[in-house]
Amino acid sequence: MLNKIGVIGAGYIGGVLVQELVRRGYAKTVAATDPAPFVNSDDPPEKREAARKQSVAKGKALDILEGTPLLRSDVEVLAGRDYDILQGADLVINTAGVPRKARPDGSFPSREELLEINLKVTGQVADGIAQYCKDAIVISIANPLDAIVYTLHKKLSPPKNKLVGMAGVLDSSRYRYFVAKAAGVSVENVEALVLGGHGDTMVPVRSCTRVAGMPVETFVPADDLAALEARTRKAGGEVVGLLGFGSAFVSPALSALEMVESIIYDKKRIVAACALLEGEYGVDGLFVGVPVVLGANGIEKVIEVDLTDSERSGLDASVNAVRKTCEEVDRMIGASVG
Ligand code: APR
Repeated sequence: MLNKIGVIGAGYIGGVLVQELVRRGYAKTVAATDPAPFVNSDDPPEKREAARKQSVAKGKALDILEGTPLLRSDVEVLAGRDYDILQGADLVINTAGVPRKARPDGSFPSREELLEINLKVTGQVADGIAQYCKDAIVISIANPLDAIVYTLHKKLSPPKNKLVGMAGVLDSSRYRYFVAKAAGVSVENVEALVLGGHGDTMVPVRSCTRVAGMPVETFVPADDLAALEARTRKAGGEVVGLLGFGSAFVSPALSALEMVESIIYDKKRIVAACALLEGEYGVDGLFVGVPVVLGANGIEKVIEVDLTDSERSGLDASVNAVRKTCEEVDRMIGASVG
């Protein structure tokens, strides 16, 4: 059990995270910060005054705390609009930002289109972490995932092991679910790795996909697998299109918790996660989804897996897409890309 876990952004994902952290007892204290509801300067004074008294984070925290007798949990929850409640957190999970949301015409923005607005938010997130918990391990979920993690790195310069993005666990979980259904077996039997950026170029690695240790092709024909891999690449958008009000929030929260659990219990679980590459896979200075060992020190090792030629070229294409977004970040925040 850690002393304190911080959750930045108490929206849909943040809410599930706080609830689950309290239920699972991963830390003595969970601290959730969120500036919402935002005070609109055009509103009449009474409305502004009312908004100032509200706090999404405090409301969610109180709701969860009032359920703790039923959860049989004595975890304390701190919540507020400001970052000071993160003081001394050992680990923080960043969900701050605007999610993808379906437009009235049914289309929706790509993760990259969220970049500009979420970069501003990420600047505030970085300042908050630097001021109140600069030594914390940071797991970032906000989109566009690879670019936001890269921005946090540029702003905080943490050691390589202490900053990690959550995407691969989620993408792999989606792929595992699809494969399990197609194979007619338990989801528990399916192991898979999805590497690369968290976007349409991600690479479900078929050569690493196993059903109870056996090659996946034994259970699912190659053509069907190709369709499942295509669905995996677009799986986030499929949920956005159905929900209408935002993006997936339960499976992303569960995926981050899978990583938190490995860190707090020093399990050294191997997961796909967005990590700083310093020469691995021939990449230097970018954050890309690769297999890592997660333990008490955060990222304890980046694993270089043998890929087939087509998986390797898929990964190269994905890295190029990540590089392009990071160059965009550099233009916006005035740093230089590795
Ligand atoms: N600091 C902290 N929280 C902030 C800040 C900030 N500077 N700016 C905005 N927020 C909060 C919002 O007020 C909102 O409550 O971040 C929260 C985000 O929650 P949701 O809008 O419900 O979005 P959610 O579905 O939780 O997704 C969060 O994860 O998967 C990604 O694309 C998704 O980037 C999005 C993030």
